[in-house]
Amino acid sequence: MSRSFNSDTRSWLARDAAVVWHPFTQMATADPHLNIVRGEGALLFTEEGEAIIDAVSSWWVNVHGHAHPHIAKKVSEQLKTLEHTIFAGFTHPGAIALAERLLERLPENQKRIFYSDNGSTSVEVGLKMALQYWYNKGEERNKIIALRDAYHGDTFGAMSVSGRGGFNQPFEKLMFDVEVVDVPLKGQEDETLAQLQTILEKGNVASFIMEPLVQGSAGMVMYAPEILDRMIDKCREFDVLVHADEVMTGFGRTGTFFATDQLRNHPDIFSLSKGLTGGTMALGVTSCTQTIFDAFLSEDKMKTFFHGHSFTGNPVACAAACASLDIFDRKETKANIQRICDRHKQFGIQMKNHPGIAEIRQTGTILAVEVKTAQNTSYFNHLRDEMYRYFLNKGILLRPLGNVVYILAPYCITDEQLNRIYDQIGAFLDAHCIRHSLHD
Ligand SMILES: Cc1ncc(COP(=O)(O)O)c(C=O)c1O
Repeated sequence: MSRSFNSDTRSWLARDAAVVWHPFTQMATADPHLNIVRGEGALLFTEEGEAIIDAVSSWWVNVHGHAHPHIAKKVSEQLKTLEHTIFAGFTHPGAIALAERLLERLPENQKRIFYSDNGSTSVEVGLKMALQYWYNKGEERNKIIALRDAYHGDTFGAMSVSGRGGFNQPFEKLMFDVEVVDVPLKGQEDETLAQLQTILEKGNVASFIMEPLVQGSAGMVMYAPEILDRMIDKCREFDVLVHADEVMTGFGRTGTFFATDQLRNHPDIFSLSKGLTGGTMALGVTSCTQTIFDAFLSEDKMKTFFHGHSFTGNPVACAAACASLDIFDRKETKANIQRICDRHKQFGIQMKNHPGIAEIRQTGTILAVEVKTAQNTSYFNHLRDEMYRYFLNKGILLRPLGNVVYILAPYCITDEQLNRIYDQIGAFLDAHCIRHSLHD
């Protein structure tokens, strides 16, 4: 299907090209951007009225569908009541209610909610909390342990604990050193545990940060809750704080409300964002235990957590998040999450032996298909662009990570929309096999 642009659209795109700098985009070679004017359920609509299935929830944020009427109503009411207030010296009912409701959902050891603006800042806050916790206690601990190829965001702290390479190479010399252990993939668990033990024994470790069960940007790399529990046990032996970055995995993505709900251990710090507001407003949350919070209480002003943003605890964002939690309280949301898990499972079984697939894996509502390729399998693999364009031309937004195409859809996605996605993944793989002579 070729795309035709009417003159209005051309003028929007010309205006975009003249003034806007898009994220994660090589502006010299990028395809023209699509001008999206409306969203409804799992669909995004272009100005020409073309419907596109948002199979990646617009960068993993949208959980209940676009322009959800309940969230829209609550946000609109909030806008007419209080749009913003400073959050130091002042508070407001929405921030209090949201904190209470999140603590009801988080493990019982979580006692305090700190607000920021996005996933990166929620991570940044968690790193600083852990480091200052030890500083305030007068103990020198300034090392962080992270998993290899992790992605925790684009601010400097978040970049430092993320995988090093393409995305952050220009800043390599400015990032702080981090201790890295391999992802505990099936069959490699003992190696990872041994690496962790060696690092912990050297001492000076403040915290261990990880994306629990699924490393998103690394290519939906998945590992088991049992090994994460064993890693947390190890950290506990050395009194090291455990920081779960649930920015992507939170809010039902892995089948449970939080990925860490599948663990017997409770992390000390959580970072949340993306699905937090149903994907409506930018908001970040970092939660922590009473023990961490208490380490900042003192007559000594220097023990204060001197961190905040102009929009910390923004009332409109808090209203959106409370409205999103209302929808999570509905039985149909749980049923939809289960339905997607079951449908993905069936598709996984059906495709398991496809000659074009190197591996197909699933955790909850996240399904990842690793496509066989002779090229290197990094994010910059050419197959990525080929797949992205192929699916977009079929009216489906899928943004492969290198040779890994994955589905991470809003929970309201219909069976028919899921079928269209499955059919097109199958059709792409069949054609891929013919082109590259791949057989059983
Ligand atoms: C696990 C994880 N942490 C942090 C971030 C950063 O979030 P944001 O893009 O909102 O800064 C992301 C974004 O993809 C993520 O997947």
